[in-house]
Amino acid sequence: MAEVTVTEHLLLHQKKSPHATGQFTGLLYDLILSGKIISRRINKAGLLDILGGTGEINVQGENVQKLDDLANHILTWRMERCGALCAMSSEENAELIRIRPEFPSGEYILVFDPLDGSSNIDVNINVGTIFSILRRPQGHAGEIRLEEVLQPGANQIGAGYMLYGPSTMLVFSTGQGVHGFTLDPGVGEFLLSHPDMRIPRQGRIYSVNEGNRRNWSEATREVVDWFHTCPTKDGGSYSSRYVGALVADFHRTLINGGIYMYPADAAKPQGKLRLMCEAAPLAFLAEQAGGRASDGMGRILERKPDHLHARTPLFIGSADDVEAVEGIYARFKNDQLP
Ligand code: AHG
Ligand code: MN
Ligand code: MN
Repeated sequence: MAEVTVTEHLLLHQKKSPHATGQFTGLLYDLILSGKIISRRINKAGLLDILGGTGEINVQGENVQKLDDLANHILTWRMERCGALCAMSSEENAELIRIRPEFPSGEYILVFDPLDGSSNIDVNINVGTIFSILRRPQGHAGEIRLEEVLQPGANQIGAGYMLYGPSTMLVFSTGQGVHGFTLDPGVGEFLLSHPDMRIPRQGRIYSVNEGNRRNWSEATREVVDWFHTCPTKDGGSYSSRYVGALVADFHRTLINGGIYMYPADAAKPQGKLRLMCEAAPLAFLAEQAGGRASDGMGRILERKPDHLHARTPLFIGSADDVEAVEGIYARFKNDQLP
């Protein structure tokens, strides 16, 4: 069988896309290389002294794991030098990272979660890197301003993730469908394994941290209860799965269908997940694969962040399942009208 490498795939698609440029392909190439390096370090995590916490608390108020730090360093170091970026934003850095003048710069902005699901590392469960690529608004020059970065997800030029699981996978979209590649560690290349991924219209799995139930609103309880009782397409019951690493829960949802939910609650009134580095890139993939992504009221991709680390509730996956959630929230909203 002819194996298609990710580079061949990019070049092929570059020809079809009016947006893609050599600079953009170079950006993806360096991002993919960073992912391969992170994957290798994670595979050795138990052997090297890089498990556990650093003792620091990040901008999100969470414990920084040593691998969070390592993945962030690998990405920021390489991507700062790639020549395609004018700025980066990482989940682990409070401020916008502007490309320093000693490095060549370009027209793109990279937003990433260097290691998603990092609380899973110590128990050897999947983690991943999520990325979002934006373009600097046209007609702007000089040092990039924060407002130029705070764009809605609908503006993304590309988005994806690297999943470090039993095998390492790269899943991404540049607006022409969603394609999945599996790392062949012997060859050191990502090979096309999942061309043109599509989310089934309705699934049979719901995924949510039910431990938060006592903090949920009545509407949110009703949303989750819907999946306890509604029938699947063939009359069966929904099953529950929750890895606790968004990237892994999303990957399952992309392949099998169903819905992943992280609602707002009394302890997290804005939701937990980050709009720019988690929700928006996965929403881009979901829509490209024929699914939907919502904050319960409307499209995630239309939400404009008011700061780099803005959070959002997230309901993502099969179109029918996400639509059912929006229907329930809309009913509650209407009930409150006089
Ligand atoms: P991160 O490891 O990048 O901080 O992200 C953790 C996120 C996400 O991956 C996951 O779905 C969610 O937190 C799990 O949260 P709970 O433990 O509250 O369920
Ligand atoms: Mn994360
Ligand atoms: Mn993270």
